[in-house]
Amino acid sequence: MDIEVRPLEAPGVAAADEVFRDAFATVLGGDVHRDTALVRTRFRAPHTAALAAFVDGELAGSALLARWGSVAYLGPLSVTPKLWGHGIGARLVAAAVDVLDGWGAGHQGLFTFAQSPRHHRFYERFGFWPRFLTAIMSRPVTGGEPVLGWRLSAAAPPARAALVDGCAAVTDAIHPGLDVRGEIDAVLDQGLGDVVLIGEPETPRGFAVCHTGAGTEAGSGIAYVKFAAVRPGPGAGPAFAALLASCQGLAAEAGAARLTLGVNTARHDAYRQLLAEGFRTDIPGVTMHRPNEPGYDREDVRLVDDWR
Ligand SMILES: CC(C)(COP(=O)(O)OP(=O)(O)OC[C@H]1O[C@@H](n2cnc3c(N)ncnc32)[C@H](O)[C@@H]1OP(=O)(O)O)[C@@H](O)C(=O)NCCC(=O)NCCS
Repeated sequence: MDIEVRPLEAPGVAAADEVFRDAFATVLGGDVHRDTALVRTRFRAPHTAALAAFVDGELAGSALLARWGSVAYLGPLSVTPKLWGHGIGARLVAAAVDVLDGWGAGHQGLFTFAQSPRHHRFYERFGFWPRFLTAIMSRPVTGGEPVLGWRLSAAAPPARAALVDGCAAVTDAIHPGLDVRGEIDAVLDQGLGDVVLIGEPETPRGFAVCHTGAGTEAGSGIAYVKFAAVRPGPGAGPAFAALLASCQGLAAEAGAARLTLGVNTARHDAYRQLLAEGFRTDIPGVTMHRPNEPGYDREDVRLVDDWR
């Protein structure tokens, strides 16, 4: 089989999206990605790369990559089901790790099915090793929750840059070089949701990058915390609770019925706090790291993300 892997270009995005939906619907059943828009929004984002595999000129699969400063992850990876088992996925992952290494990302990873040894073995060949579970959790939104914290979308552009730098200082304090400015820009530039901040304006104590509704990574009826973190140190627990309450307020304002997020269970304090706050696991996945190091998955780190 003649497989060619090259960067995904705009005309191929619709086909990549179709393959992505078909591949995941085949393993998970149903219309799992509903009215979300993951491939299209990530393709447009400033901090991502997208690779496509072609067989006989037809797009047969894709791999998306996100760069968070010194951290980068691979996903989603998908191949058209009728061509599974022909080496297309392996070619995409081989090309993907070249991109991750080229970015100089010291901490690399992915999220995959916790119960699939085939997936684990597949990625292990490329140096990714399974570590702790990442729990995709949610809790209901009643609609009456108060609006708390403040929103980056409401800040005047000159003030916004300083606030975004403040967010980068929060993540850098957790893991040197961790920087999700690309996720912040994607949300604001594409109107995917908003960024909630808590603490002092000049030095935010914490922030959350949230997607809301259809046409985003959330989907209708959902508010999804793509990434959230609070500065470590004394008071991190109450600050994390305040940040979650602010996300809940945003979800209510957006008319969402559920607030969804992901947390690696190695961040034990955060995981326990989420359980105590009424979140329950909907999807247990596992993160695989390259190299096999904890990164920012430490017991006291109050950080919410998943690498789907
Ligand atoms: C996982 C996936 C991308 C693999 O793509 P592929 O082109 O079939 O992969 P390859 O042909 O390169 O196979 C490489 C290895 O993947 C594994 N594999 C093959 N088919 C697989 C399947 N249906 N499910 C899981 N793993 C599979 C095998 O370990 C295979 O190793 P082998 O050479 O010893 O058989 C593809 O099955 C897919 O799109 N699945 C649905 C979406 C998904 O699971 N994405 C990854 C989530 S992290």
